Amino acid sequence: MAAITAVLSLFSAGDEIVLSRNVYGGTYRVLDQVFSNFGITYRVVEGERPHDFEAAVTERTKAFLLESPANPLLEVTDLVAATAVAHEHGAIAIVDNTFMTPYLQRPLELGADVVVHSATKYLGGHSDLVAGLVVVRDDELARRIAFIQNSTGGVLGPFDSFLLVRGIKTLGVRMDRHVANAQRIAEALARSPEVASIHFPGLPTDAGYEINRRQAAGPGAMISFELAEGHDVRCFFSSLELVAFAESLGGVESLACHPATMTHAAIPREVRERIGITDGLIRLSVGIEDADDILADVEQAIRASRF
Ligand SMILES: Cc1ncc(COP(=O)(O)O)c(C=O)c1O
Repeated sequence: MAAITAVLSLFSAGDEIVLSRNVYGGTYRVLDQVFSNFGITYRVVEGERPHDFEAAVTERTKAFLLESPANPLLEVTDLVAATAVAHEHGAIAIVDNTFMTPYLQRPLELGADVVVHSATKYLGGHSDLVAGLVVVRDDELARRIAFIQNSTGGVLGPFDSFLLVRGIKTLGVRMDRHVANAQRIAEALARSPEVASIHFPGLPTDAGYEINRRQAAGPGAMISFELAEGHDVRCFFSSLELVAFAESLGGVESLACHPATMTHAAIPREVRERIGITDGLIRLSVGIEDADDILADVEQAIRASRF
C-alpha cells in the first residue's frame, strides 16, 4: 500500500482516477477513505472492455488504475486496449501486477506507464515480509515518485530488503509450480457438481482465457469459486486442514479466504454484490505443496460442508 500511496500522491485535488471493477479492497479503501480527503476522486469501471473504460473517463481523469486478473474474481482486462484508452485521454496507466509477477506478465511492455507490486506476495514468496515496489519506464516519473517516497517515508528496512532479494531468486521456480498446481485444482473444481461457479483464467471456458493467454505467460495461481446449493461456506473454511484460512496470498503455502468479510470487507455490501463478490465466494491462493495434497484437502472440506 506504500507503493500505491506513493503513486497516488502524484495527483492533486480535482483529479480523478478510473479504477478496474474489482481492485484489491485496500486500493479501493485508500482512495475512498484517505485520498478523498485531499479532493482526489475515483470512478469504478462497469466492466472489463475498452468501451467500459472509455465510458468512465471525464475531463478530470488523470490515471487508470488497473488489475488483470483482478482481485478476487480474476476478471481479465485487455491491457493493451485499456492503456491505449488512458493515453488517448491524456491519462497515465497504472497496473497492479501483484497477482501475476513480472515472471508471468510485464505491463510496461503492454503500454502501462507505472506498475506496482505488493512484494509481500509472490515476489517475497514466503509470507514473512511486507513490501511493495513501483516500476516505471520514464526517468522523470521515476524521479517524482522517488521524491514522494523519500518525503513520505514508505521505505523498506534492510532485513526486509534481504528477505525480498532472497525470495526473488526462486521466483521462476515457484511460479511454475504455483501455476501447475492451480491449473490442476481449477480443472478438478470445474468438473465438480458441488462447485456452482469458478473463476480462473487458465480454464478455456473462462471469459478472460484468450486475452490472458495473449498478454501473459500463464494464468497465475489465484482461483475463486462458489459452492453449489446445500453447502455451508463457513463449514468449508473450518474443515480445511492443510490449506490455512487467512488473508494475503502468493506464499509457498496454500491459503483460503472469504473476500466478503476479509480482503473486500471495506467495499459496501451493495457495491460488492453488484460486482459479483457474493457472500458465498471463496478465494484460494494455491501454494507449491504437492497438488494431490491440496486437492484432497479442498475436496474433503467441500464434502464436510454439505448440509
Ligand atoms: C492486488 C493487491 N495489491 C496490493 C495489495 C497490498 O499489499 P500489501 O499488503 O503488501 O500492502 C494487495 C494485498 O493483498 C493485493 O492483493
